[in-house]
Amino acid sequence: MSAPILEPTAANLAQAATALREGKLVAFPTETVYGLGGDATSDRAVAAIYAAKGRPSFNPLIVHVASLAAAGKLVEVTPLAETLARKFWPGALTLVLPRKPHCGLSLLVSAGLDSAAIRVPAHPAAQGLLSMSGLPLAAPSANPSGKMSPTRAEHVAATLGDKVAAIIDGGPCEVGIESTVVSLLNATPKILRPGGVTAEQLGEALQMTIEAGSETGPLRSPGQLESHYAPILPLRLNADSVVAGEALLAFGAKPPAAPLTLNLSSGGDLQEAAANLFAMLRELDRPDFTRIAVMPIPETGLGVAINDRLRRAAAPR
Ligand code: TXA
Ligand code: MG
Repeated sequence: MSAPILEPTAANLAQAATALREGKLVAFPTETVYGLGGDATSDRAVAAIYAAKGRPSFNPLIVHVASLAAAGKLVEVTPLAETLARKFWPGALTLVLPRKPHCGLSLLVSAGLDSAAIRVPAHPAAQGLLSMSGLPLAAPSANPSGKMSPTRAEHVAATLGDKVAAIIDGGPCEVGIESTVVSLLNATPKILRPGGVTAEQLGEALQMTIEAGSETGPLRSPGQLESHYAPILPLRLNADSVVAGEALLAFGAKPPAAPLTLNLSSGGDLQEAAANLFAMLRELDRPDFTRIAVMPIPETGLGVAINDRLRRAAAPR
């Protein structure tokens, strides 16, 4: 049976917060993508998240908290972390920091590492759940492992509806791609996953150059692009024309002719493109076509994160 889709009223958030305190899972909106939330202090709840997503390996999860002060109870907030948190929280930035001893976080949430990835989400429904539950919430994107991230409540209902106690509907996600993950475990900050906050914005805040990196992890073979964020149809990237059988994911003012075109942003706006990315890929992913052609996206600003997701979606399965 699929879970109810609930408006984010105070009563519904209170009901969802109770479910979370009972160790159940709740899907909730954030400004980046919808999260599959569970109590980050409970190994059982965190294990249920891995199981629901069908994640093949224990990749560490992001822990969501209500404020910088709440983060400080769980991890060591270094001076660089404090600068970034004050500038970008609440928002699409995740910081990887050393876990505090006896922080109470599940070991599984960090996949056994002595660090934790932490973020303060901006979405009022996420903030409501955090304050009403009083819990740090582990929440990866609310999609089966390897599939596209959900940016609407219906996306969650279609795939994980039977795995959660409730789905909170906060409307379409404003940012549309996941948070930027930055490791602050060493002297120089490192971007582990490009996302909603750009390398340029980070560099400006810290007055240093931050190298835009790509998602890596302790369980990932180096240099290999893992298939991820993938629609059912194959993708052909950097397409400037369309061949028979293809639908077109366009960008910019002058897309080539195609039997079906969705334009990420006809005005060439990368923020608009990021917000549209996953919903449009889902819409083009239909059996009338054999492939999705994707026009080139500039590798600047948010384009770095968009291209990262597109390359993974196009990677061999
Ligand atoms: O926008 C987002 O970040 C969404 C929404 C729901 O908040 N959440 C999300 O969570 O994408 P998740 O758990 O799928 O992201 C985990 C990312 C992975 O790239 C993982 O490798 C990295 O964070 N990560 C988590 N803990 C880490 C750690 N201790 N060290 C290094 N990387 C870590
Ligand atoms: Mg994900």
